[in-house]
Amino acid sequence: MTNELDFSGRQVLVVGGSSGIGNGIAQAFRVRGAQVAVCGTRAHAKEYSQAEGSDLTGLSYAQLDVGNAGAVEAFKPLFDRLDVLVLAQGAVLYRRGEFEMAGFRKVVEVNLMSLMACATRFHSMLRDSRGSLIMVSSTAAYHSTMGNPAYNASKTGAVGLTRTLGEAWAEDGIRVNGIAPGLVDTKMTKVTTDNPKRLEGALSRIPLRRLGTPADMAGAALFLASPLSSYIIGQTLVVDGGLIL
Ligand SMILES: NC(=O)c1ccc[n+]([C@@H]2O[C@H](COP(=O)([O-])OP(=O)(O)OC[C@H]3O[C@@H](n4cnc5c(N)ncnc54)[C@H](OP(=O)(O)O)[C@@H]3O)[C@@H](O)[C@H]2O)c1
Repeated sequence: MTNELDFSGRQVLVVGGSSGIGNGIAQAFRVRGAQVAVCGTRAHAKEYSQAEGSDLTGLSYAQLDVGNAGAVEAFKPLFDRLDVLVLAQGAVLYRRGEFEMAGFRKVVEVNLMSLMACATRFHSMLRDSRGSLIMVSSTAAYHSTMGNPAYNASKTGAVGLTRTLGEAWAEDGIRVNGIAPGLVDTKMTKVTTDNPKRLEGALSRIPLRRLGTPADMAGAALFLASPLSSYIIGQTLVVDGGLIL
């Protein structure tokens, strides 16, 4: 019997794979046999720690600031074939920073513009391998998030981009899909999880009564990159323990 979740011999790149959800996804591909490269904002892998949700064991690391469009275009990967591209980069500004245009632009640049920049940069490699592209958006795409207009607009845009590239690149043999996580315990959500009152409120709204984990998100990513989802394109899977039901 074939194992559709065996990624031996596959090359995977996770942008935003240095920590949190992207890191969990990267490790899930690695333990299933893939060669996995990850990118993050820091100069060296050793600048990341387990305490921040980073495990770079067995992954190759390269610095890439996706907020800089020129850097994405100029990025030279250390591999010459790419089977799976996961775009997990994301940023958010608190304290009304996204109500200032500079903050709004910065978040949209990282969360939306860079998805298109990375997708375009690796399009030909994905076409050559008939590979998969997975974009990480958010359940924020499906409701208002009062303090974060840029995060909301960018994640809503990511769902539309997933749909549209899904249709546009089907003829190239590339399957484009997405994941919309609910509330996952990472360094991005410390502002909620480190505050007992906020955490309790958040848990009370999640039918499964627990936070999501990077491993929960990885399950969806493995599925979307595998032949088990061979007839699915342009979809964003909500993986949220029921949060937005
Ligand atoms: N946690 C949640 O509850 C949740 C819910 C819905 C959606 N999401 C989305 O899930 C994705 C992963 O977030 P996370 O929760 O795992 O948070 P995280 O641990 O902070 O991970 C964010 C990742 O994006 C990278 N990144 C941020 N700005 C970047 C830039 N300018 N250039 C390149 N990489 C950049 C980070 O690099 P560094 O490690 O160097 O900072 C890190 O690898 C994001 O798209 C986020 O919006 C998260």
